[in-house]
Amino acid sequence: MFSYNKKLQYPVNIKKKDLRMAKYLVTQYGGPNGELGAALRYLNQRYTMPDNKGKALLTDIGTEELAHIEIISTMIYQLMKDATMEELREAGLDSHYAEHSRALYPTDANGIPFNVSYFATTGDPLADIAEDMAAEQKARAIYENLIDLTNDPDVIGPLLWLRQREIVHFNWFKELFEYYQKMLSGGSNKIMKSENDSNALKYMMYDV
Ligand SMILES: [Fe+2]
Repeated sequence: MFSYNKKLQYPVNIKKKDLRMAKYLVTQYGGPNGELGAALRYLNQRYTMPDNKGKALLTDIGTEELAHIEIISTMIYQLMKDATMEELREAGLDSHYAEHSRALYPTDANGIPFNVSYFATTGDPLADIAEDMAAEQKARAIYENLIDLTNDPDVIGPLLWLRQREIVHFNWFKELFEYYQKMLSGGSNKIMKSENDSNALKYMMYDV
């Protein structure tokens, strides 16, 4: 079960509204490389990891991504909470206002709503963890793009911290990938599928 701490994982205290930045930042909420997709990716993939080491790591990182959604959401809210209608219109957020007023809604920076096809689950630990490693690198790159788009230290601080967490997650996934790679190439790929229900296992060798 999850337990909730009533504080952000990294403090957010933005004093200057910046609607354009809010519009860009939302991609790390509901965009293809955002935190919502990351949390759902890991929390769905975790069940089919071959052992408790993998299940625990995906649960830990998936849970942390939920905390990152909260940080990004707080940033977006603080950046746009005092906006006038005119400012919303100027920033191109009038269409957001039409649908959601000042409420949060997971989209990318172009306003395209979150889509579940942003992540996959294959039931194959190496395929899933390879996706996770790529996802962490893409999230890091997007954070760097976002940092380029602002000069506000109150925005840059949390973004730098979130970027750092993507690097840490990438390294943890890489370690897990290498651990399973060794384990599976040792011939123990039967832990994933039984010969009775897998043609792949009957006719092919895992070459990992
Ligand atoms: Fe991450």
